[in-house]
Amino acid sequence: MHKIIIEGNNKLSGKIRISGSKNSAVALVPAAVLCDEEVTIANVPSISDIDALDEILNHLGATVTRVDDVIKIDSSKIENKLIPEKVAKKLRASYYFMGALLSKFKRVEMYFPGGCSIGARPINLHLKGFEALGAKIKEEDNMFIITADKLVGTKINLDFASVGATINLMLAAVKAEGTTIISNAAKEPHIVNVATFLNNMGAKISGAGTSEIKIVGVDYLHSCFHEVVPDYIETGTYMILASMIGKNITIENIIPEHVESLISKLEEAGVPMEIGIDSIKISAPDVLNPLNIKTQVYPGFPTDLQQPMATLLTQANGKSMINETIWENRFLNLLELNKMGATTELLTTSKAVIIGPTKLKGKKVAASDLRAGASLVLAGLIAEGTTVIENADYILRGYEGIVEKLTKIGAKIRLEEE
Ligand code: EPU
Repeated sequence: MHKIIIEGNNKLSGKIRISGSKNSAVALVPAAVLCDEEVTIANVPSISDIDALDEILNHLGATVTRVDDVIKIDSSKIENKLIPEKVAKKLRASYYFMGALLSKFKRVEMYFPGGCSIGARPINLHLKGFEALGAKIKEEDNMFIITADKLVGTKINLDFASVGATINLMLAAVKAEGTTIISNAAKEPHIVNVATFLNNMGAKISGAGTSEIKIVGVDYLHSCFHEVVPDYIETGTYMILASMIGKNITIENIIPEHVESLISKLEEAGVPMEIGIDSIKISAPDVLNPLNIKTQVYPGFPTDLQQPMATLLTQANGKSMINETIWENRFLNLLELNKMGATTELLTTSKAVIIGPTKLKGKKVAASDLRAGASLVLAGLIAEGTTVIENADYILRGYEGIVEKLTKIGAKIRLEEE
C-alpha cells in the first residue's frame, strides 16, 4: 500500500494533459481477445487496473507488448482458462472477459469480479442478457459457468442503463448469429469508444451513444488500430481542482462535450472558463456559489465526479445538496472531509448536505475507493498544512501519473510506501 502526502494551499497554474479513459481502456483490453489477429490500442493509461488486465491476458496466453501508451495484443492463440479468483477480484472490469470469452469460445468460467466498494454491484443484468442470447448459467461457489451451443441475436431491454451490462452484451453479441438489439443501453463515451473499436475490427454495430444499439453478428474480427478516448472523469477532477485553487490552469487533450454537465454546474458556481476545441482554461473565482448535484447516467452529472465535487462544495458560500442516485455507498469521503474541518452531513444513504465555506486543515485521512481518494487529494491541495492520504493505491487504479501531473502545476505532493 502507498500513501500520498500533500503540503497544501499552493496556488496552482500551468497545463495538465489528460490521459486515455480508464473506463474505456479497461473494456477495450478484454474486447481485444475477440480479435482473430493482432490489435493495436493507443493512448492506454498506465494505471494499476490496466496492469491487472495485462496479467489476465498473459494468463490466457495472449501476447501483449507495450511501448509508452501503445499496446499490441495478439489473442489469436489464447486458451480458454479459468482466471484465478485473486486476479479476477482485483478489479470490476475483469467481468468483460465473460462477454468476450463467451463470444469467442461459447463457454466461460469466471469468478465474481472485484472493484471499488461503492455499492452492492450485482451483475444480474449481464447474466440475464447472456441468457437471452442463448447461454446457460450455473453458479457455484462464487463462480459462474456460462455455456452456449450457439449465441443467437435477440432483443434485450436493460432494466437500468448499466455501463457494464451494455458493454458486456455488445461483446457477447458481436459474433452471435443474426441481429441483437440492446434497448435502454448506456450512452457513456466509453460505450461509443468500445463499439468503434469492435467496428474497426469488422463488427457491425450501430446506435452506440444512443439508447438503442444494434449489433449484426459477424464471423471474423480482423486486426485494427484504435485510440482510447480522453478520460472525462480525470478531466472533470482537474477542472474541479482548478475551480478551487487554479490560476490559469489549462486542461488539454479533452473532449469538452463529454464534461458538459460539469461545465454547466461550474458555471452555476460562478467559475470563469475558456472552452477551446480540445482544452479548457480555468481560474478559481473569489466566491463559489453553492449547488444542488444529482448524479445520473450520461449525459447527466456523473457519479464518478460526485465525490471530487463534494470537496469543491466545502468551499462554496452556503448550503449545497448532493443526491447520489447510482451507488448506495458513495459518501465515505465526507467523514474524512469532516476530519479536515468540513461541515457535511449524510441525510439518508443517498442524500448529503454540505455547508460552506470551511477552511480545511491537513490531517491523516484514508481513501475508501478511487473517487473518494480523488476527493481527498483535492482537499489536501486546498488545505493548510500537511495531509496524509492512506490507501492511496485506490487512486493509482484510475489516475495516470497523478503525482507528476500535479507537481508540474506547482503542487507539493509525493507518493510513499506505507
Ligand atoms: N446494476 C444492477 N445490475 C447489473 C449492473 C448494474 O443492478 O447487472 C446497477 C448497479 O448496482 C448500479 C447501477 O446499476 O446501481 C449502475 O451500474 P453500472 O453497471 O452502470 O456500473 P459499472 O459498469 O459497474 C461503471 C464504471 C464505474 C461507474 C459506473 C457508472 C467501469 C469499470 N466502472 O461501473 O466507475 O461509476 O459505470 O457510470 O467502467 C469509477 O471509475 O470510479 C467507477 C466506479
